[in-house]
Amino acid sequence: MRVEPAVSVVGHVAVPGDKSISHRAVMFGALGEGETRVRGFGRGGDTMATVHAMRALGAGVDELSDDELVVHGVGVRGLRAPDAPVDCENAGTLIRLVAGVLAGQEGRFELTGDESLRSRPMERIAAPLREMGASVETTDGHAPIVIVGSGALHGIDYELPVASAQVKSAVLLAGLNASGATTVVEPKPTRDHTELMLEAAGVGVRRRSTSVTVQPATSLRLGEVDVPGDFSSAAPFLVAAAIVPGSDVTVHDLGLNPRRTGLLDVLERMGARVAIFNRRRAGREPVGDVQVEYGELVATRIDAAEVPLLVDELPLVALLASHARGDTVVAGAAELRLKETDRIAAVADGLHACGAHIRPREDGWTITGVPARLKGGKVDARGDHRIAMLGAIAGLASREGVEIVGADTVAISFPGFYEMLDSLVTR
Ligand code: S3P
Repeated sequence: MRVEPAVSVVGHVAVPGDKSISHRAVMFGALGEGETRVRGFGRGGDTMATVHAMRALGAGVDELSDDELVVHGVGVRGLRAPDAPVDCENAGTLIRLVAGVLAGQEGRFELTGDESLRSRPMERIAAPLREMGASVETTDGHAPIVIVGSGALHGIDYELPVASAQVKSAVLLAGLNASGATTVVEPKPTRDHTELMLEAAGVGVRRRSTSVTVQPATSLRLGEVDVPGDFSSAAPFLVAAAIVPGSDVTVHDLGLNPRRTGLLDVLERMGARVAIFNRRRAGREPVGDVQVEYGELVATRIDAAEVPLLVDELPLVALLASHARGDTVVAGAAELRLKETDRIAAVADGLHACGAHIRPREDGWTITGVPARLKGGKVDARGDHRIAMLGAIAGLASREGVEIVGADTVAISFPGFYEMLDSLVTR
């Protein structure tokens, strides 16, 4: 696919429901009592993998429309082992969270996924789950994973070796079916959708500045979940507005959990104009409308403490930095090498091919920006939805356009991405 340069990017949109929250709503609904209605479900390849997995494990999921589901829960210990392996496809959040859930269910479960997922590290969840009393076997540290769940897990105090919401969530979810309390200590704050949703479902959750404790639960009751717009799906539009002169984009009904919105702070300190309106809540999640207008950008620095707050937006930060006067350093982001693809390499190669001055570091990039359009070129998505979206925004902001190899992969998180982008573009 080719994305041609835009004169400007202007307008109002609402993006599909948050992927992280959608996964959790379906999964926790499956563990719930009775029905959970999920409104604003963010339908995509990843979240549908969770729907299929929960059905395979014995829960019912009715699809009332594209973005509304009813999940029929089987109770906190009610999942059953299917005959076939559970295919988590491309979804890291699914495989890691469900591993935590299954550790406390009776039976033998096999979890697998596509080639990308099978290359990602899984010992990070296996180790704490074994400590809690489950039998967890990885394949040389990767999926396929075989879990023999135990009805006799015990709570642990676990200090996360990496700042990861997926690992934190896996341990907390196993804790629901453990004896005694389970505490996870975080090196840096990461997204807290699991904690917020478990609290809403009536689970005993205690939060301190660097740790979270859950109590075992005999039942979960969510009732209704209103999923806010996915900040990570809005981010490409917000970044397009910041780098294409004359642009002005507003995204409505957007999730604004402070552990997800690090990009807004970065946009502001680089010189884009950012405004937030209509702040409110969807359940326990903060929501609002976000407007970004073009501004002349200056370089910035991003270190480890900020990384979890914008981990999925860092490829877009590299593009912002390519348009900002001065040298930007992104450091402390080695986790990017372990995402759907090695995002440090994919971004460095892709933006370099478009004319950016970007050098990879082991844990990020150094980027020398120029406040002018990049020439354009070719970006290989390498099967990674966030890299395809990066290529599209690079194309809009370029002089000659960008060809995206593997553009279809956006459907993992945002099937209608290109159409929505088109609706904002003046050419
Ligand atoms: C996610 C956590 C993050 C993020 C991923 C979704 C989640 O991964 O990159 O896209 O839903 O918990 P890590 O926990 O591996 O950092």
